[in-house]
Amino acid sequence: MEKVIEVKGLRKSYKDTEVLKGVDLEVKRGQIFALLGSNGAGKTTMVRILTTLLKQDEGTATINGFDVASNPDNVRRSISLTGQFAAVDEILTGRENLIMIAKLRHLNNPRQVADHMLSRFGLTDAADRKASTYSGGMRRRLDIALSLVGKPQIIFLDEPTTGLDPEARIAVWKTVKELADGGTTIFLTTQYLDEAEQLADRIAILHEGRIIANGTLSELKKLFPQAKVEYVEKQPSLEEIFLAIVGKKEAI
Ligand SMILES: Nc1ncnc2c1ncn2[C@@H]1O[C@H](COP(=O)(O)OP(=O)(O)OP(=O)(O)O)[C@@H](O)[C@H]1O
Ligand SMILES: [Mg+2]
Repeated sequence: MEKVIEVKGLRKSYKDTEVLKGVDLEVKRGQIFALLGSNGAGKTTMVRILTTLLKQDEGTATINGFDVASNPDNVRRSISLTGQFAAVDEILTGRENLIMIAKLRHLNNPRQVADHMLSRFGLTDAADRKASTYSGGMRRRLDIALSLVGKPQIIFLDEPTTGLDPEARIAVWKTVKELADGGTTIFLTTQYLDEAEQLADRIAILHEGRIIANGTLSELKKLFPQAKVEYVEKQPSLEEIFLAIVGKKEAI
């Protein structure tokens, strides 16, 4: 399978703080890749570099074969980003926000695209209200809907479900899975281990500036000590694996 995201030796410091200390990773077409890490681990920094919003200090990153540093325009044409904080235009209604993006992406039928997205994300009733009157969760849903307009090839979602209620979370998961089934590559960050467990084909854990584990859920489960058989065998949850790996790392 073709690699659509390739990162090698990525380093980034903010003044004296080294946030990324040499990150390597790859994501193949149609995969859902989850980058896990605690607050301040550097997830948003990674996403900002990969989406050309921030320059790395060292190392390389290519998206769809284009180098983020030397060919940012082509990278931007290949991707869509939903940042950690909503990028919705508050003065416009939900519908107007969607129509605007559909027009910017040169789609033929912006009104139809907007209607479809509104219904898919449960925003039809609120469609003609200004986004400034939306609740946090509604704004988030609109933000994700905006990033999905026009079926981009690669989608970056920085903590897509933070602050969503369980129903909205499931709606986002469903959409993400459908997109991946259709060949879209998804790079998402999350602090919710169950989200990674539910969605991701591959999971990487970013800790103290490095990827300390990277693999499928079943590969990561092998890193965890064998389940003890007492009366019932309990498979470790991703949370237990995460804590075991992070704890092990700190003990070294
Ligand atoms: N513009 C900046 N200037 C200085 N330090 C920064 C800047 N942006 C981020 N940092 C620092 O870099 C580290 C990584 O931040 P980043 O936002 O990438 O983490 P994160 O994994 O996305 O965290 P969260 O889960 O809270 O969103 C943090 O220590 C943060 O304080
Ligand atoms: Mg972040």
